[in-house]
Amino acid sequence: MIPNIITELPGPEARKYVEMSQKYEPRSMSEQVPAVWQRAEGAVVEDVDGNVFIDFTSGVLVTNVGHCHPKHVRAVQTQAAELMNAYDFVNPWRVQLAKKLVEITADNLDKAFILSTGAEAVESAIKVARRFTGKYEIIAFHGAFHGRTYMSMSVGGKSGIKKHFGPMVPGILHAPFCYCYRCPFDQTYPDCDFTCLRYLDWLLETESTGSVAGLITESYQGAAGSIIPPGDYMQRLREWCEERGILFILDEVQSSFGRTGKMFAYEHWGIEPNLLCLGKGIGSGLPVSALVGESRILDALEPGSMSSTNGGNPLCARAALAAIEIIEDEHLASRTGKLGRVMTEQFDRMKEKYEMLGDVRGMGLAIGLEIVKDKKSKAPDPEMTKRIVQQAYRRGLLLIAPIGFHGNVIRIAPPLVIPSELAMKGVGIIEDTINSLSS
Ligand SMILES: Cc1ncc(COP(=O)(O)O)c(C=O)c1O
Repeated sequence: MIPNIITELPGPEARKYVEMSQKYEPRSMSEQVPAVWQRAEGAVVEDVDGNVFIDFTSGVLVTNVGHCHPKHVRAVQTQAAELMNAYDFVNPWRVQLAKKLVEITADNLDKAFILSTGAEAVESAIKVARRFTGKYEIIAFHGAFHGRTYMSMSVGGKSGIKKHFGPMVPGILHAPFCYCYRCPFDQTYPDCDFTCLRYLDWLLETESTGSVAGLITESYQGAAGSIIPPGDYMQRLREWCEERGILFILDEVQSSFGRTGKMFAYEHWGIEPNLLCLGKGIGSGLPVSALVGESRILDALEPGSMSSTNGGNPLCARAALAAIEIIEDEHLASRTGKLGRVMTEQFDRMKEKYEMLGDVRGMGLAIGLEIVKDKKSKAPDPEMTKRIVQQAYRRGLLLIAPIGFHGNVIRIAPPLVIPSELAMKGVGIIEDTINSLSS
């Protein structure tokens, strides 16, 4: 039976490990419900006490092919017994992965640099954009999340992750993103005709010294609360960059490898980035990331100017190749599009019924539920959002801790292989939880 809760929560073993964590680990990580994961398969997680949960997290939108997919596991096991690191010496898996990424991404992207983390891909994109253009300014967006190293934090647009870490890297110009539910310009789409895009020219006029190298954006903003660009926003943003000779750097660390219902989110808009940052789902659990780009840009880096000890190691590269093969063979992108639509319909229906469900936003299996005190005031309700996540856990559904500017967005992101019945069971748990908390 799934879910199957057989102990009080957290159970005795889980409590033991949570206490150990509190004693031996820093408190800096995000605060999740006290589920201590032991093993997982597909979209089902078992904790150390034998409780079985439905997974609506995929880690944090990582395990796109499902936890421990047999083909993925086989690739890792086989490679682990053969070769795990070869540094910058060429290894067959690294170059095959680079070739594969070039084949499956946009036509203009013809080289791929294999790395380990999303933040590393973002750092590398900005370094190469600066080197290629000889300019240094980067335009980025309020609400953006690009990672936690200094440059990736600096292009991030949420103050929380930057607090008390001292000055950020200079040269970043921030602009409002298209957060239509809480438009910073207090306008309504489509009547606004994208005031937020027109603001970019004002930004250039007032803030830039004329040295803009590139613009970096997520395809949809994840950590800010699953903020999805409406209409042709992305096409117009892309054109805006093109017209001004500004490199368009797309951070698809989270939105790629089928997550939004296409292999890459940019396919929804028919646009081509100059540089594309990939991570999370590419390794589906192994630490892999990549910067895919135009060779005229990437080749601005001379030998020795950028590399990474673990980047492109054969173990992770082979795992990534296996994950991509699974996504292709099992048609996970199109399946995700269909299942995401069905789930979103259910959440839309719930939105009509429950006052606290202010907004439902989604692309494929990256769905956000914005929780408010009431629909009229739209006042964020972070306390209620936390209670929903905690109570869903008690009912056997794992959700990531609340996200969003105000900590009032629930993220729905199961592995892409989740069977429909299990997905609907998870939706049912969310509805039961919201229902029980609605006064
Ligand atoms: C859009 C985006 N970019 C970059 C990152 C950073 O990736 P990593 O944690 O692998 O460094 C994340 C992680 O959540 C992300 O969502």
